[in-house]
Amino acid sequence: MTHSPVTIGILDSGFGGLSVLDQTLRRRPHWRYLYYGDFEHAPYGTKSLAEVGGYVEAAVRELLGHDIQALALACNTATSAAVAELRVRLALPVIGMEPALKPAVQAFPTGVIAVMATQLTLREGKFRDLMGRVAGQATILEIPCPGLADAVDRGDPAEAADCVHHLLARSDPDRRADAVVLGCSHYTFVQSAIRHYYRNAAPLFDGSEGTARRLIDQVESSRPTTVGAPVEPTAPTADPQETIELVGPGATPQRKEKALRLLNQLAEGARRHG
Ligand code: DGL
Repeated sequence: MTHSPVTIGILDSGFGGLSVLDQTLRRRPHWRYLYYGDFEHAPYGTKSLAEVGGYVEAAVRELLGHDIQALALACNTATSAAVAELRVRLALPVIGMEPALKPAVQAFPTGVIAVMATQLTLREGKFRDLMGRVAGQATILEIPCPGLADAVDRGDPAEAADCVHHLLARSDPDRRADAVVLGCSHYTFVQSAIRHYYRNAAPLFDGSEGTARRLIDQVESSRPTTVGAPVEPTAPTADPQETIELVGPGATPQRKEKALRLLNQLAEGARRHG
C-alpha cells in the first residue's frame, strides 16, 4: 500500500514553530515538512501588524513555490496578523495557532490564568476576541514577553531561563497564577523554567499539540483517499534529516542542524515525562 507524499509548509519567525513540527512529526513521521524560519525578521512580536503581515506574505509565497499541500502558521503572532486573509485567498488548508486560553479556563473557571505571549498577540483583535468569548469568571493575567523568543532562538538555556524569571517576577511577583498559557510557540522550549518559577504548582497549556492535531485532521479530510491511512506498522522509521527541509533565506546547514537538535530535545523531554 503506498500513499502519495504529503508536504506541509510550516512557518514561524524562528525556531518556535518546531514545537508544532515536533507534535506533528510524532503522529505523521513519514510526511515531508518544509520549515520556514524567518530569522531575518525575527522577532515578530515587537513589530506592527502591517510589518508582520508583509513578512508572512513573502514567506508564504516562497513556501507555495514548493508545492505544499497545507500551510501551518506555527506562530501565534503571524496568525494574528495574517490567517484570516490567507484562508480567504489560498486554496489549501491554512492552520493557525492561538493561545490555549479556552482549555485553561475550562480547567480553572474562576482561577487566575497567566497568558505569556508577544506584545502583538496580546494587543490584537484575535486575542481580544478570544478573551471576550472564553474568559468568563477567570482572572486573566496578560504577560507580554519581549526578548524571550529571541533568547530561545539564540539557544543559550541559561539566558532564556533568566529572561523567563525576570518577565514573570515583574508581571506575577506573588505567583498568583493557577495555570499558565504558553501563547507563543517559542515558549515550549522554556517550559521547565516556567514550571520552576511556579514551583511546579501551575499546569502549562501549550497550543502546539492542538495545532498539530488540527493540521492532521484538515490535511486528511481534504485528501481522504491518499493520506487517510495511519503509518503502516512495518514502515521503517523515517529519518528527520530526510523528511525535514529548511527553506527561505535563513535556511543554512547550521540552522538545520540546530533545528534537528531542538527537535531531539523535545522528543527526549516527552520520553522522560511520558
Ligand atoms: N513564535 C511566535 C509566536 O508564536 C512569535 C515570536 C516572535 O517572533 O516574537 O507568537
